[in-house]
Amino acid sequence: MHPARIGLVVLLAALLVAGAQAMRSNGEKTNQAAGQTTDIEMENPDPTALTIQPDIPSLKDVFAGDFKLGTAIPVSAITSQDGPDAQLLIKHFNSITAENELKWDATEPREGQFDFTRADPIVKFAVNNGIGLRGHTLVWHSQTPDWVFHDEAGNLVSKEVLFARMKQHIQTVAGRYKGQIYAWDVVNEVLEPGDHAPGGLRNSLWYQIAGEEYIEKAFIYAREVDPNAKLFINDYNTNMPDKRQDLYDLIKRLKDKGIPVDGVGHQTHIGIEYPSVQELDDMVTAFRDLAIEQQITEMDMSIYTNDVDAYDTFPLDLQIKQAKRYQAIFDVFRKHKDQVNSVTIWGKDDGNTWLRSFPVNRNNWPLLFDERLQAKYAYWALVDPDRVPEETSQAADSATHSGVWQVCHDEEANPTEGVVAPENAGCFADRLQPNTR
Ligand code: G3I
Repeated sequence: MHPARIGLVVLLAALLVAGAQAMRSNGEKTNQAAGQTTDIEMENPDPTALTIQPDIPSLKDVFAGDFKLGTAIPVSAITSQDGPDAQLLIKHFNSITAENELKWDATEPREGQFDFTRADPIVKFAVNNGIGLRGHTLVWHSQTPDWVFHDEAGNLVSKEVLFARMKQHIQTVAGRYKGQIYAWDVVNEVLEPGDHAPGGLRNSLWYQIAGEEYIEKAFIYAREVDPNAKLFINDYNTNMPDKRQDLYDLIKRLKDKGIPVDGVGHQTHIGIEYPSVQELDDMVTAFRDLAIEQQITEMDMSIYTNDVDAYDTFPLDLQIKQAKRYQAIFDVFRKHKDQVNSVTIWGKDDGNTWLRSFPVNRNNWPLLFDERLQAKYAYWALVDPDRVPEETSQAADSATHSGVWQVCHDEEANPTEGVVAPENAGCFADRLQPNTR
């Protein structure tokens, strides 16, 4: 190519890059739906330079009279037993959940071949530091290897074979950590009203092979192997009246049969606007007469109301709005502290949230500490609300936004690639009408 032409191409390329840079501005939306191709750099701080704030109040102490205060971690968070991540965990939390390391695909990837190399360090860290441990999760339709449900020919196995495989898994995994785990998510996300199965049960392979009985068996096996662990049924969107009623009815059926269900886990993956504080209050109230424990097991608060907006940085008005919302919701948890005995935030800091890759790859700031392990306004709202500025007028404008946030999961979607299955795309799209469920 003629040198002059090369120079022109280089100049054009430089102009294109400069143009893209100019489009970005702090806090300004980069609307991917409009086909704008601005890449959003994730904020990945230099991990060696992180330090925690040693002199701010410890969250676990702030809530000592109310409930355990927990978080979820990947095993990478404790590679260094005394690094800043470990220091943050030890200072602020008295409960830990392994984000992925105790799931079936991690602990028994092939039949009878168990692997605890990722789970053991988390359990050891919790035990060595006197931190409670929530086990997540024994029976789930996702992150469960295909071999569990199929024979060598690829056909679905019988109920008897499935139960034998489940029993071996639960006996081995829950047995290994007997006495070290105070609560197990025995079954996870067993309801899906959209599947239109009886009782709102999810039409998973578990259900297709064994019906509702698989849930009963999971609790029976778990109780047999660790009589002191509290056994939970865990799900998301348990604030939504239809699903909430399905869950209530299921727990009542199980308890009426003498199945050892000790508690209900409300995942509580919520947005900056939905669900309302009142709906979360009603959620806890709805289960009170079942005489079971209640735990908030996976709380995070996305700053978006849809799956197309994306911010380069966390706008101040949304920081304040998020803080006030965390404060109001924790006031509800405190109101029900006779029922709610553990609240887990699904991630220790904004640099470690699944919401930066689900439903799409984008910045998100759903937690209490930022990427540099510093306390956010959301933290101060729980500790010293006077430290949180008053909401700005811009926040008031966005409060009129009628978007409805409904968390849907499609485990077939690969969150790391930001691919949301088409049938789920609507779950994250902004909706004109409030959810009428
Ligand atoms: O370990 C592999 C790694 O080897 C591979 O290179 C990488 C890229 O493909 O993927 C890694 O596995 C990822 C795993 O997290 C561990 O990082 C999976 O792809 C990814 O899908 C998985 O996401 C987890 C998600 O559950 C799976 O459904 C999230 O971290 C985790 O926060 C999320 O947690 C769930 C709860 O268990 C149940 N409630 C909903 C909640 C959010 O989906």
